This record gives sequence, structure tokens and C-alpha cells, in this order.
Amino acid sequence: MGERTTARLTLHPAFRIGTVDRRLFGGFVEHLGRHIYDGIHEPGHPSAGPDGFRRDVIELVKELGVTTIRYPGGNFVSGYRWEDGVGPLDGRPRRLDLAWHTTETNQVGLHEFQTWLDLVGSELMLAVNLGTRGVPEATALVEYANVPAGTARSDQRRANGRDEPFGVTMWCLGNEMDGPWQLGHLSADDYGKLASRAAKAMRMVDNRLELVVCGSSNRDMPTFGTWERTVLEHTWDDVDYISCHAYYQETDGDLASFLASGVDMERFIASVAATIDHVATVKRSDKKVKISFDEWNVWYFTRWNDVEGTFPIDHWPVAPRQLEDVYTVADAVTVGGLLITLLNHADRVTSASLAQLVNVIAPIMTEPGGPAWRQTTFHPFALTAKAAHGTALSVSLDTGAIPTARYGDVPTVAAAATTDGTALRLFLQNRATTEPTTVTVDLTGFGTFTTATATGIWDEDPYAANTLEDPERVVPRANETIELIDGVLTIELPPVSWTAVTIL
Ligand code: AHR
Repeated sequence: MGERTTARLTLHPAFRIGTVDRRLFGGFVEHLGRHIYDGIHEPGHPSAGPDGFRRDVIELVKELGVTTIRYPGGNFVSGYRWEDGVGPLDGRPRRLDLAWHTTETNQVGLHEFQTWLDLVGSELMLAVNLGTRGVPEATALVEYANVPAGTARSDQRRANGRDEPFGVTMWCLGNEMDGPWQLGHLSADDYGKLASRAAKAMRMVDNRLELVVCGSSNRDMPTFGTWERTVLEHTWDDVDYISCHAYYQETDGDLASFLASGVDMERFIASVAATIDHVATVKRSDKKVKISFDEWNVWYFTRWNDVEGTFPIDHWPVAPRQLEDVYTVADAVTVGGLLITLLNHADRVTSASLAQLVNVIAPIMTEPGGPAWRQTTFHPFALTAKAAHGTALSVSLDTGAIPTARYGDVPTVAAAATTDGTALRLFLQNRATTEPTTVTVDLTGFGTFTTATATGIWDEDPYAANTLEDPERVVPRANETIELIDGVLTIELPPVSWTAVTIL
């Protein structure tokens, strides 16, 4: 083992970034693989209620603490007919899902999903199809969901068993419309015009809506930057948010770069924020368009060739196992690092969705007829969602640097802090792959703290994972090295670790 590294952090109550919006801890449920069917919805399962929803999964989703949940896609939404998912179950059509090459049975639609959301206590964020459909279908859905009564669509909803409107506030104007893989994908100019028309019409139905326009699918897209500028020029007066999507994976054994994925996310957010500011400048506008980071996670997409390529004409399975990544300690530490980045940009990013929730690149896994369990990535999300309330504070970092192949030299330690006026919470990621890092935190600016406790994720084996056979192999551990003396906190962070600290 080589030399120990050290890091010095300074925190002060006046170092305010912004309010932590609860929507930062959102999730994402797509009709994909075993996410809905044989995931959250499994009528024959011993824990399922009369509605078919598994209560064991609901308990885990509640424990995870997801606030707003984006639905029903994703790529799926760009071919979806929302009308197929309402009305009597036995009359619902089975459709080809072209995005994931499966059969959609439509046994879960808007009503059933809202029932499930009521059970988990989360808010709905609904995406409309701007791939194969357009303005009339989007406005019809707003009418169906939000108009109280007395019109064709609202009375159809009531006839389908829901007297009260769904009252959906957050709406996504399509999904990843810059991506050639997207059904009906468009140029920035064409999408910007369509999104503007759709937004205006949807707001004419309900002027309370908060609308998210699609940014780039990721920051490696060839049109990244010009896409955001063009789309915002068309939709500036119509939307509240622009989306960002980013997925990360460890490639070629390059753990150091992977752990530093939060640095990439930071640069992504900074670029989109700069583009928003540029459009505001040329429009002479004081409007603040916010960022909805509504897909982010670790995803080993290079492992999943099962949803690309050519399939036989008779191969359209229902709920196959797709994108079922098994996450490791290193993945959880990276997810923790991405959460740190989101908190550090709480002034610009006020909505975010971990993608996804159950079975599909998910913090929660299930086995048909069997148990549900927490993946490693469940823990940093749940601990952060529970702790990070109130105001995000900027952390002054004096830390060594780690060389990475992808991002150059990056700080050894990433940190974020929040305070609810009583407790101070600190979130720390040690990116060192072999060495512990001793962190000291100057809290003398606060004056009154007396106790500090720490819990986190690390392991002698950074590739340890939770599985059906061993679902509790990786769980949060108390870090007993923490000390708080005269306003100075000291803690030793194990290599490849993520830690949440509570200071009172
Ligand atoms: O989350 C999986 C897929 O990733 C989503 O359907 C799509 O929006 C993104 O490309």
C-alpha cells in the first residue's frame, strides 16, 4: 500500500448554492423488459394486491424515496398510443413495441400506473409521444388527464373509473428526439417547432403545466450544443425545463475514469447551463429555464445487444429480461458521485430521474414468484434522498488529484453538503482506487455542532454485488473513524467509497 492521501474541506452556512428541489430525487418507469410486467406488476405473486401490484416492491420503492416518476418512456413513448392503455382491460390491444422489439399488452396504463403511484406516494411526470404522433394526441391526453368533467375526453376518463382528474403537472415533450434510434426522430429545427406547437396547445388546455423540452440524448451526440440552442430558440417562451440524459459504464478496466463520471456530468450541466444563458442573452430575457436531468445512471449498454439488430418476424416476447444490469460496489460509488454532482448544481438542476427503477438498469430487482431485493446502487440513492433536504451548500475543496484517461486530473474527493437548518449533511466520494483518504472538514463557521456519524458503501472487493442468491452481500456500513473536535471533523474514507455524514 502506498502513501495515504489527505483532503481539506471548508464549509460555511453562507456558501449557499440553492434550494434542493425534492424533484431531484425522481425515478423513471418505462414499459421495457420486466420493468412493469413481472416487475412492479405481477398479479400471481404472493405479495400482489388485488390490483396486481407487488407490495414487496412498493415497500422498496418507498424506502428508496423516489419523488417524481417519469412515465411511460423513454424510447417506448415515441410509438405509444396512450388510448390503448385506458378502458376495460379485456378490450386493450396487444401492440408491437418497436423501440424494444417486444409485445405491449397494455394491461397497465395511465389509471393503473396512477394507482401504483398513490401506493408508493410519488408524483407522476408524464411524457407525450412526439415521435409517431403530435399535437392533437398530446392535447387530448392533457384533456383526459387534467380537465375535471364535461368534455369528451374528461368524461371518457370518468367513465373509465376516475372521477377526479389526475392533475399531472410535469410533462415531457417527447423523448430523445435527436437520436436516430428514436421513432420519428427529427432535426433540431423540426423538433423545436413541433415542441413549441405542442407546448402552446397543451397549455391552452391547462395553463398550470410545467413542460420539459428534449435536450440531446447525451453529450457525445454530434449535434450536442447546437441542438439545445436551436430547440430553446423555438421553445423559449413555452417551456420550463430542458432535459439532459447521461449513462456511464466502466470500460477497459478503467476504474479511475469511471469513478470520476461526476466530472463528466458537471461539464455536461455547465455546457447546457451556458447554452440556456446564451439563448436568454440573445432573447433579452430574464426567464430561468431549468435543467431536468431526467435520465441518469450507470448502464452497461455495450453488454445489451439483445435489443438491437434483426429479429425474426415472430419474435415479439412479452416482458423479456432486458437491460438487467447487476451493479457492483464501484457502480454504487459512481452513482453516489453523480448524486454529489446533482446536489452541487441544485441552482440549475431542479428535477432529475434515476433511470430506471425496477429490473431494468435498476436499483431494485425482482424474481417472478420470488423475492425483491436492493442492488448496491439502491443505497447511495436512498441515503441521499432521505438526508438531502433544505439548502445545498458549496464545499471548498483542497484535495489531491487523480489522473484519469478520460477526464484528465480530477479531485481525489468529491463532496456536496446540505443543511435543513438543524442538521448538516455531507456526502463524500473517495475516487482513490487503492488508498484511503483522510478528510478534515473545517466547520468552525457553524459554531454549534457536537456529534457526527457516517455511513457508506465500500468493500474489500469493489466488484462485490447483491444477487438473488446473496441479496445482502453489500449493505451500508458505519464508518467508525469519524471524529468531531472543536468544529473540525476528521474521517478516513476507504478507497472506492461513498459516504453520507450527519452532523448535529
Ligand atoms: O433508459 C433506457 C433508454 O435510454 C431510454 O428508453 C431512452 O430514453 C434512453 O436512450
